Amino acid sequence: MTTAESSSAGDQVGGDRGLVGQVAVVTGGASGIGRATVRALAREGAKIAVVDRDGDGAAEVAEEAGRAGTEALPFTVDLAEPPAVVTLVETILSQFGRIDLLVNSAGISGGRHSSLEFTEETFNAVFAVNVRAACLLVREVGNHMVKRGGGGRIVNLSSSAAFRAQQSPALYASSKAAICGLTRAAAADLGPYEINVNAVAPGMTKTPMTAGIGDDEAYTAIVSSGPLENLLHRPSEAADVAAVILFLCLPASRQLTGQVLHTSAGLVI
Ligand SMILES: NC(=O)c1ccc[n+]([C@@H]2O[C@H](COP(=O)([O-])OP(=O)(O)OC[C@H]3O[C@@H](n4cnc5c(N)ncnc54)[C@H](O)[C@@H]3O)[C@@H](O)[C@H]2O)c1
Repeated sequence: MTTAESSSAGDQVGGDRGLVGQVAVVTGGASGIGRATVRALAREGAKIAVVDRDGDGAAEVAEEAGRAGTEALPFTVDLAEPPAVVTLVETILSQFGRIDLLVNSAGISGGRHSSLEFTEETFNAVFAVNVRAACLLVREVGNHMVKRGGGGRIVNLSSSAAFRAQQSPALYASSKAAICGLTRAAAADLGPYEINVNAVAPGMTKTPMTAGIGDDEAYTAIVSSGPLENLLHRPSEAADVAAVILFLCLPASRQLTGQVLHTSAGLVI
């Protein structure tokens, strides 16, 4: 494997501090893809609201972003609670004055379940955070962006699970399909205000969410054969996905909206 192949793309996108003066909200910022996204946005100079129910994790990530030379603050919120989402946006606006970028990365898998065996409790938990919180944040932040004028960017997290049948837990897969619908509808609603709304659909990505898979060898095995086999036979790092999210926040992607970009190494084509 060459150096270019073995390194993740997260360190190769942007780099000219093109987001100085912009304020980003990253949900699920304490871990995995959200955490890698905070790092990528911090390198570009964006101020960041790191939102997570894991307050210690959010504080740690915000501190790290601060050391990278930007202003970042942690916000401890359970996004499954609708009133908390509305208050969160008000609080972030009172601290930072504006929001230019929203990355909806917070999510849960709901554990192993099929369409024949799941509880209402799991349904409510999965849809509360994966779908309702993302919708409410699009509404609250979208209205702010429209009122303020000057545009903005919103990036939602879908999943390759929404595009395949096997090894797609039913509730998780349907919640991530809902994200694609939200992305397209919001792109139409917000397009006239120069607000781009896109989604990324990661395949197997090495984060705490998938840590149960095991060591590096186990990840490689799972993407090398069977229903999760991808064309490159390697899992994504969180930074690989963050690199695409960052691209969707940079001026270079200004003509992309309403799209779902597959960061699954060719699992979904
Ligand atoms: N890891 C993968 O293979 C993969 C693949 C496709 C899509 N995704 C999606 O990417 C996103 C990020 O996943 P990840 O792999 O980084 O997972 P992760 O578990 O590492 O991070 C998710 C974060 O969301 C936070 N969160 C969960 N529920 C919350 C709530 N109610 N309120 C506030 N914060 C909450 C968690 O505390 C955690 O910090 C998710 O939406 C996930 O569905 C992940």
